[in-house]
Amino acid sequence: MVRRYDPAVPVAADVLDRVLEAGLRVPSAGFTQGVSLLVLEGADVERYWSLTTDPTAAPDRWLAGMRTAPVLVLVWTAPGAYLDRYAEPDKGWTDRDPARWTAPYWHVDAGMAVLAMLYAAVDEGLGACFFGVPPERIGAVATAYGVPDGQELVGVVSLGAPSGSGRRSRRERRSSDELVHRGHWRPTSHPIS
Ligand SMILES: Cc1cc2nc3c(=O)[nH]c(=O)nc-3n(C[C@H](O)[C@H](O)[C@H](O)COP(=O)(O)O)c2cc1C
Repeated sequence: MVRRYDPAVPVAADVLDRVLEAGLRVPSAGFTQGVSLLVLEGADVERYWSLTTDPTAAPDRWLAGMRTAPVLVLVWTAPGAYLDRYAEPDKGWTDRDPARWTAPYWHVDAGMAVLAMLYAAVDEGLGACFFGVPPERIGAVATAYGVPDGQELVGVVSLGAPSGSGRRSRRERRSSDELVHRGHWRPTSHPIS
């Protein structure tokens, strides 16, 4: 994840198109394809930050870095599209009962789209970061950009030319011994609840 960008280096239109295409060319539950991307550049990016941050507070290090991103891709998903798709005869979940879902596939699919865009960004020599949006600001974002009812904002992918080497997480990466279980779940010294 890259959290500071070189504002002097724009993202070329063809590069951006390829990253977006990667986000759409992902598996989706029932091939619902219920994830949509709202692409913001220029003044629309400025507007996003003014809608989601406190204008009276000085930006912290995270915000100062992220505001340098020339492109933001807002990732939306439509739960209703999945409920409709799975109510079709080949699935048959006509009761639209949320308890049927192993996990909400509308969120799973959004994660698939995000990861594909992150990989595509790296392949294009860009940096990227996925980040969340304060829930209480999402309504204002939806209104500002004309997003219809029924769309849920999952998060945002920032894109741009990386600036600096970035900062490693203070957390250590967990080992495969802790996280991979073969045949039977083994107790580990730091169990994940
Ligand atoms: C679901 C999800 C939510 C995340 N939210 C944020 C976020 O709000 N802000 C942020 O700076 N990074 C966010 N991240 C990035 C993680 O902090 C990052 O992936 C982790 O620290 C590992 O770093 P790396 O991806 O650079 O290896 C998020 C990642 C995921 C998968």
